[in-house]
Amino acid sequence: MKISFIATIMALATALITSLAARGGEVMLSSNGHAIYQVKAGEKMLLLPVQESVGNAHLRVLDGKQQLLQTLNVRLAIDRVDYYVPLYLNGDTRAIEMFVGNHGDIKDYLCWKEIKPSNAFDTTNRERFRPGYHHTPAYGWMNDPNGMFYKDGVYHLYYQWNPYGSQWENMTWGHSTSRDLIHWKAEPTAIAPDALGAIFSGSCVVDKDNTAGFGKDAVIAYYTGAGRSQTQCMAVSTDGGRSFTKYEHNPVLTADVPDFRDPKVFWNDDIKRWNLILAAGQEMRIYSSVNLKDWTYESSFGTGYGNHDGVWECPDLMRLPVRGTDKSRWLLICNINPGGPFGGSATQYFVGDFDGRTFTCTHRDTRWMDYGKDHYATVTFSGAPDGRHIALAWMSNWQYAGQVPTKQFRSANSVPRDLDLFEDGDEIYCGVTPSRELLAMRGVKVKKLEPACEIEVELRGKTEITLSNAAGEQVVMTYDAAKREFAMDRTHSGDTGFSDDFAAVTTAPVHGKLKSLRIFVDHCSIEALDAEGRMAMTNLVFPSTPYTDVKVKGGKATIYSLKH
Ligand code: FRU
Repeated sequence: MKISFIATIMALATALITSLAARGGEVMLSSNGHAIYQVKAGEKMLLLPVQESVGNAHLRVLDGKQQLLQTLNVRLAIDRVDYYVPLYLNGDTRAIEMFVGNHGDIKDYLCWKEIKPSNAFDTTNRERFRPGYHHTPAYGWMNDPNGMFYKDGVYHLYYQWNPYGSQWENMTWGHSTSRDLIHWKAEPTAIAPDALGAIFSGSCVVDKDNTAGFGKDAVIAYYTGAGRSQTQCMAVSTDGGRSFTKYEHNPVLTADVPDFRDPKVFWNDDIKRWNLILAAGQEMRIYSSVNLKDWTYESSFGTGYGNHDGVWECPDLMRLPVRGTDKSRWLLICNINPGGPFGGSATQYFVGDFDGRTFTCTHRDTRWMDYGKDHYATVTFSGAPDGRHIALAWMSNWQYAGQVPTKQFRSANSVPRDLDLFEDGDEIYCGVTPSRELLAMRGVKVKKLEPACEIEVELRGKTEITLSNAAGEQVVMTYDAAKREFAMDRTHSGDTGFSDDFAAVTTAPVHGKLKSLRIFVDHCSIEALDAEGRMAMTNLVFPSTPYTDVKVKGGKATIYSLKH
């Protein structure tokens, strides 16, 4: 996009009130909330000072040819710096226009003194609540997992990311890779916003047979371009998912509804075509394609089924085996916000049949995949080995995700969980089993809890498990076989005051009898999962010091430290 640089400078000059020497280049300020930072030759990166409680400044990064290179929103510090975020400059960057609003006298803003050039950005962890074995972004805000796929021994996880602060903004696909689903390596930014908008959630497929014509094994990403409207776009990677080029004919699907997003694409061997499912308001729409570019609308699913107390988001659709039988059924994952069983965000699912065109659900009631408050945007890896369907969730809730007591980063993913189906009477439910990679992570047995550890609990008919610390904070979990119920009480778990929606007791119905629980504790989260995969509950906790004790009434606990 071209802007008139000279006109901008002239407009600025007429309203110019002052020019300040920042630590790097010079900043010119006008009286109308407008500033220009002149980049000095050789500057590679600017550290931008962020104050989370203030409004966004709008930044436009310009090159010497008056081209707009990038836009971003950042909460530039007015009178306090919470932390810095890096803005990488390419060799052509000449100026950064900043629209900071008009709160008082902008020449007194702290940001002008605090913007500093740098050669590096320090991502050393500063957070006591940062998980040890769950994926987190090195810095910045994260929500949904995106585009997850497996190829050549590597799991790729992209994620909704704000590279310029720890609140939701500037949605970009961040990227991490792992060989074991436990240890993650941060990779360069995968897909950044453009003229069609921010890069919202989506999926990736590996095009093994070159159906799209970008080459055998091209990795094709589908995401929602969130600009004036929400549209579905493609980006292609020919280096195994490291870097993506946006498809020149984007968008590939346009909207007739405002909420139209989160495409999940998969190869359907039954019809020898690709399917795409996305969320459109209160329903899921299904499409098919032979070439990954031209999509035919097939059907919609949703009216009259499950929970509709919020917007439907982030779908997934897959065939899964029914445990202990030779049957299979289709599972449709439907994340919904709000409307969760304990308020806010949650993952519901539907079991049924799918013929490549229409999903036919066999029940109308609401079924939740996880009965905690912090399990959202759940989707599975494409192409996981051995026919596995491995899911990751965003371990937070839109009710308070932006208020949780961390700053350098916000949010983690759940532990990986393998999905299947199981029968209870005449009904079929989704099984959620801790992925086998978690067993490999187990270290030696220890007596005291560690900030990151696993507790295995043998259950009897009635079991009470209490995790506590020296400050008297505690989390109480109860299993009642007679009531067929499991509950977790985090009302006295530590810091709960940052949101009225946080303190909660969550309860789950239990199918059959539970024999043993696996409880994954990691600095700020507790995931209690039935070892046999018939109950899952995920809740965040923010104790003032880590829990050290576990007391079990009516059962037996074994604590495992974790290998690093
Ligand atoms: C779900 C969601 C998606 C959207 C993304 C934006 O948490 O609202 O529907 O694509 O987050 O960040």
